[in-house]
Amino acid sequence: AVDAERLASVRPLEVALAGLKRLEYRGYDSAGVALVGPGSAQAAFAKKAGKLDNLVSEIAAHPLPDATAAIGHTRWATHGGPTDVNAHPHLADDDRLAVIHNGIIENFSELRAELAADGAVFLSDTDTEVAAQLLAREYRAAGDLTAAMAATARRLDGTFTLLAVHADAPDTVVGARHDSPLVVGIGEGENFLGSDVAAFVEHTKEALELGQDQIVTITPGSVEVSDFDGNPAEGRRFTVDWDAAAAEKGGFESFMDKEIHDQPHAVADTLLGRTDTAGRIVLDDLRIDESVLRSVDKIIVIACGTAAYAGHVAKYAIEHWCRIPVEVELAHEFRYRDPIVDERTLVVAISQSGETMDTLMAVRHAREQGAKVLAIVNTNGSTIPRESDAVLYTHAGPEIAVASTKAFLAQITAAYVLGLYLAQLRGNKYPDEVTQIMDELRDMARKVQTVIERGEYVRATARSMKDADKVLFLGRHVGYPVAMEGALKLKELAYIHAEGFAAGELKHGPIALIDEGQPVFVVVPSPRGRDQLHSKMVSNIQEIRARGARTLVIAEDGDDAVRAYADEIFWIPQAPSLLQPLLAVVPLQIFAMALASAKGLDVDQPRNLAKSVTVE
Ligand code: G6P
Repeated sequence: AVDAERLASVRPLEVALAGLKRLEYRGYDSAGVALVGPGSAQAAFAKKAGKLDNLVSEIAAHPLPDATAAIGHTRWATHGGPTDVNAHPHLADDDRLAVIHNGIIENFSELRAELAADGAVFLSDTDTEVAAQLLAREYRAAGDLTAAMAATARRLDGTFTLLAVHADAPDTVVGARHDSPLVVGIGEGENFLGSDVAAFVEHTKEALELGQDQIVTITPGSVEVSDFDGNPAEGRRFTVDWDAAAAEKGGFESFMDKEIHDQPHAVADTLLGRTDTAGRIVLDDLRIDESVLRSVDKIIVIACGTAAYAGHVAKYAIEHWCRIPVEVELAHEFRYRDPIVDERTLVVAISQSGETMDTLMAVRHAREQGAKVLAIVNTNGSTIPRESDAVLYTHAGPEIAVASTKAFLAQITAAYVLGLYLAQLRGNKYPDEVTQIMDELRDMARKVQTVIERGEYVRATARSMKDADKVLFLGRHVGYPVAMEGALKLKELAYIHAEGFAAGELKHGPIALIDEGQPVFVVVPSPRGRDQLHSKMVSNIQEIRARGARTLVIAEDGDDAVRAYADEIFWIPQAPSLLQPLLAVVPLQIFAMALASAKGLDVDQPRNLAKSVTVE
């Protein structure tokens, strides 16, 4: 929403389209916008299936009028396929009212029947149109968009962020949120709403975090927040700590490529300010009592996708340093189990976006059972930290590419810091040991940079393998989650069947998959480790080699033992065993990206995926 003065220099439509461009990673099945302005009898709108560019071309061909308020949406289809008709906005009240929606309205069929009996006519298969029709009916009764939105929100079950504009109120946008993200951007003579701050950060860094079950009404000069019963409420003000440029490609071919190159910073920034002058770890922003952390007797890590693999790495490190048992579980499995959790259990929720619905629901489930929840999250103003007892922010900056890279490294880094902090607090480690590991950890940023600089050989190998239809990944110990993450990257980006195994498990089944020429990545542990992991892994390489596999080996500089058994070697700098994942995963990321590019695929927005999955 903008005022007349700002209108001269900035058009709400352009602001909305630019915001959508920045948020497109959240979903890209279809896109749409709706606009209202003084004197408009109806909301003007355009919507189109497919990526945002289709909508932009549609608007270029059929221009929309000037406006003072605009709303826009990109969709990740749930109810109803990704068609033009099902794209948002959905209109009601003779096209005077336009609504966009994220989430799922669970009682939509009852409401649809009720509204149809009342004379409403539905054009789409979406649950959203039900919200639009309901809002129209409430608006006719209340004559006020904010009150109508509150009445609508009270009737909806499920999860939703709803935004609406009405031709009667051309400088107003009303939003409601229930278990779905919505953040306010506070400007001068203009205000913004977005699913996350990336939508408006080029206009303002001043933001307001909303709570659950709140309604927000913005005009060019005001932001008003209330609950679903109309009582005034307050949000939490915060300032976005990154620049709009951080969410731009900056000369790289893709966001993913840029984010891979950002990784040394993601690691370094996540470590920044975590130690005092004596080298002790201080986590001031944790907002949890030290005595609680001292009494923890079990840790359960919950997360989804890449974040869950960061959790697997955390398990090895935390158990080793702290002697506390650590379980790792996919959030959606944890939630529907009957987990054994009590007030001495620390649940660590890991999430880049801080909005993944599966993870959020698991956080609530854990807290209901009395566990304390500590969130490792990258996005300030998001829901998971708000609903957790403690938060440790990663400082990876905005991650735009759907497949996670720098957030993964930052999550692992933060988990190491947490592990060392717990070890320090509980006396499992001497202060000088903690200081030494922290120094080694700080040095990892430089080593990650070295791996990136060696990327061209990985790219060339990937290009030569663009016709591969199945790729296997093997790892042991902390290399096992790295193998799984390498496989996930390849599935996500190149649509190739890929699987990561614990190398020891090979002989119990997966080895049957190996035949002549089968590519197998092997993450080789440090030969300097005290255990026998390295020699066991070398034997595993020989076993698959003997059966015809083509071995692509990730090994430490100087590890001459692997040379004889490797078809290709991707060298990484030497590092302490537990920290090796920060290096070993990088060639796998580059490989997946380069192979997908060689196949002509969009590496930033792979098919069927979305970056923040805010539905269960
Ligand atoms: C989606 C993304 C993955 C990501 C996962 C967890 O599935 O496509 O890349 O790892 O969500 O996301 P989070 O924001 O919770 O880390």
